Amino acid sequence: MVANTLTIRDNRTGREVEFPIESGTEGPSVVDIARFHKEFGLFTLDPGFRSTASCQSKITFIDGDAGILLYRGYPIEQLAEKSNFPEVCYLLLEGELPNQEQYTRFVRTVTNHTMLHEQILNFFKGYRRDAHPMAIMVGVVGALSAFYHDSLDVHNPRHREISAFRLISKIPTIAAASYKYSIGQPFVYPDNSKGYVENFLYMLFSVPCAKFTISPVLVRALEQILILHADHEQNASTSTVRLAGSSQANPFAAASAGISALWGPAHGGANEAVLAMLHEIGSVERVGEYLKRAKDPKDTFRLMGFGHRVYKNYDPRARILKQAAHEVLAELGRGDDPLFRLALELERIAQEDDYFVTRKLYPNVDFYSGIIQSAIGIPINMFTVIFAVARMVGWVSQWKEMIEYGEGIGRPRQLYVGPARRDYRPVAERL
Ligand code: ACO
Repeated sequence: MVANTLTIRDNRTGREVEFPIESGTEGPSVVDIARFHKEFGLFTLDPGFRSTASCQSKITFIDGDAGILLYRGYPIEQLAEKSNFPEVCYLLLEGELPNQEQYTRFVRTVTNHTMLHEQILNFFKGYRRDAHPMAIMVGVVGALSAFYHDSLDVHNPRHREISAFRLISKIPTIAAASYKYSIGQPFVYPDNSKGYVENFLYMLFSVPCAKFTISPVLVRALEQILILHADHEQNASTSTVRLAGSSQANPFAAASAGISALWGPAHGGANEAVLAMLHEIGSVERVGEYLKRAKDPKDTFRLMGFGHRVYKNYDPRARILKQAAHEVLAELGRGDDPLFRLALELERIAQEDDYFVTRKLYPNVDFYSGIIQSAIGIPINMFTVIFAVARMVGWVSQWKEMIEYGEGIGRPRQLYVGPARRDYRPVAERL
């Protein structure tokens, strides 16, 4: 037997085949089973990808047991404390932190592409005013491919670069416009004298009739939220972007698919669900009642913002945001905010409860992010949109990596359990 292989024996035939074990820089090794079907005539079955690595990647590493998250090797805590969102975008896209000249050029390019083609603003007006901003985002981001035809050749590195800039630069403008439209206020054009995050807040909250000001503490808190959400390896939305992009669909279409996948409450929609849950619980006295429901296997209620497919320890992003929530609420003179107190108490009680302890259910990134966003003045239905703004750079980086590796189209197989072959009968002959 060769070291670094795994031997699989088919007990029906006694045939044994060795498969190579490949090791990465960090984390568990993988068995390369690409030849598995050829060798055994069998597929592997792993719904939900619980044991399956779908690709190789150099971008993000998570150790869910230890609660570690690295972007290109850099710990998330260091980036959240010392870096800023454009620099993190550069890191994710290019693989290294920029030097001063690279940083200046990158920021200038991102800043110069914040405006939307004017026709795109007409596009928003086709939606009902009460449309969910995520519904608008799915449509408008996909529609970018109808406006920027000049950068759609996915095999051309320059086209890929231009599309990447367009998506990262324009996503805050689209997000803000979807919000402005839903509340009946005029669209606000970007102000390129402002930084990425401040400009986003400006487009969200300013109105033509009043001077816009915002506390740097709030800008920094949103910047941290964007940094912490920028990438998270092969999560559902990123895998969706890779799969859609693997057909050589253009990056705007692939990004729109990612936004759709992000929308659900088991993924990016959870921060919206956390606030709804906190409002529903209402007071510390009712925490016990809701924890009881969360533990009841017959009840579909789950503690939103708790648990994670990968983290079986405290999500490092949640720890940073818990601290940021303290800072934002103190800045606003709301240190005793009842919702925040409720969240802290919920976490405390859950962390002492055997059900949550044994299942390793800890607060995830969504648990405190909604409280911060609410305090900033961002409405609940925009939370997932903010997540999409942050994750755009992750999607784009992963899409570029997938194309550059030349992975080919992603095409999972299945275990078919439907009816066996049968013949069509005219309706009159059917029982
Ligand atoms: N509340 C109560 N029980 C839970 C929760 C929860 N939030 N999460 C998991 N459990 C329980 C399950 O019922 C299961 O119990 P059992 O072993 O008795 O059957 C056990 O913990 C394991 O749960 P799984 O569903 O196997 O965990 P999985 O990895 O599939 O799910 C998920 C992860 C979807 C995130 C889940 O924890 C959940 O639904 N959490 C709430 C929604 C949420 O916060 N999503 C945000 C995820 S982070 C992000 O997308 C940015």
